[in-house]
Amino acid sequence: MAPLRPRPGILEIEPYVGGKAEVEGMANVVKLSANEAALGPSPKAIAALRAAVPVVHRYPDGGARALRQAIGARFDLDPGRIVCGSGSDELIQLLMRAYAGPGDEVLYSAHGFLMYRLSALAIGATPVAAPERDLRTDVDAMLSRVTSRTRALFVANPNNPTGSYLTREELARLHAGLPNDVLLVIDAAYAEYIGCADYTTGQELVERAGNVVMTRTFSKLFGLAALRLGWLYGPPDVIDVLHRVRGPFNVSALAQTAGIAALEDREHQEQERANNDCWRPWLAEQLAALGLRVHPSVANFVLVGFDADGGSARAASAWLERHGILARPMAAYGLPHCLRISVGREAENQAVIARLREFVA
Ligand SMILES: Cc1ncc(COP(=O)(O)O)c(C=O)c1O
Repeated sequence: MAPLRPRPGILEIEPYVGGKAEVEGMANVVKLSANEAALGPSPKAIAALRAAVPVVHRYPDGGARALRQAIGARFDLDPGRIVCGSGSDELIQLLMRAYAGPGDEVLYSAHGFLMYRLSALAIGATPVAAPERDLRTDVDAMLSRVTSRTRALFVANPNNPTGSYLTREELARLHAGLPNDVLLVIDAAYAEYIGCADYTTGQELVERAGNVVMTRTFSKLFGLAALRLGWLYGPPDVIDVLHRVRGPFNVSALAQTAGIAALEDREHQEQERANNDCWRPWLAEQLAALGLRVHPSVANFVLVGFDADGGSARAASAWLERHGILARPMAAYGLPHCLRISVGREAENQAVIARLREFVA
């Protein structure tokens, strides 16, 4: 009998490795490896979760109606054009499955979020990476890679792990250069942290075009990464397609309940944003003062460059880990000489700088 074999291409996928969370033999670590909310979840979300536990024998609302209404009210969007997912990762995978297949090309930028490549491979499509300029998405390079086989273009704005973003004008130019039958996915996972006047989540493009969607998440500023909750805003046709391909209960009741409570807790959101506004520039300054190359970031992390051969970045990561601090090595993103450090609480930020100072010395 022939052995079981997965579809061609599946075994080319390198399983996604998330930011490390543990160090053997250490009870308390400083985890700055996954761009999670520094201050943790909203106390109101925790209370809502507790209250929801006694009814977990009931299936959730498959349409996440109350949550979609809350998102719509908060961001001034039509709840009928929102789909929720088990993290924005799931929405990326659903879009991929619905709009691309074997032989199709899926485009993203060279140091773009890893899930674009991995989920394209998972459905048998060909991932195509356009080169970046100074670790920024290059609109012209992206457009020059569009072929008759391109089905979707993914752009994280701002991008993880580089922290750079496309301005409103650049994003509009990227969209204007795309054929109507190519889906533009704007992944705005870090949108809530950003205060730049020329930044856009892409919401207005979704409103005026038939081929643009915006994905968002509760895993970052809203502090609910473990619950897996993301959402997408798109044209009615795309929403209809996603409702057909998603699982009937793809978002748990606990995630829906906590999401609504987290949205309501404006004070907690402001605290998280203020922590980031204070400590990201501080981290960048301190790292630069140590002689390290810090790439400008508008999100809740900074990308730090060490010597070109990658040896110093690996050694720095190991040194930090030995002292119970977890940063994210970047070899999987094609940046072996870099570490990505999430913004933490004050003591965590002080700790990572103190240890890197020792390392550099
Ligand atoms: C750019 C980007 N998009 C999407 C995600 C996935 O987020 P979620 O937790 O909603 O699946 C991440 C997570 O790090 C990210 O950095």
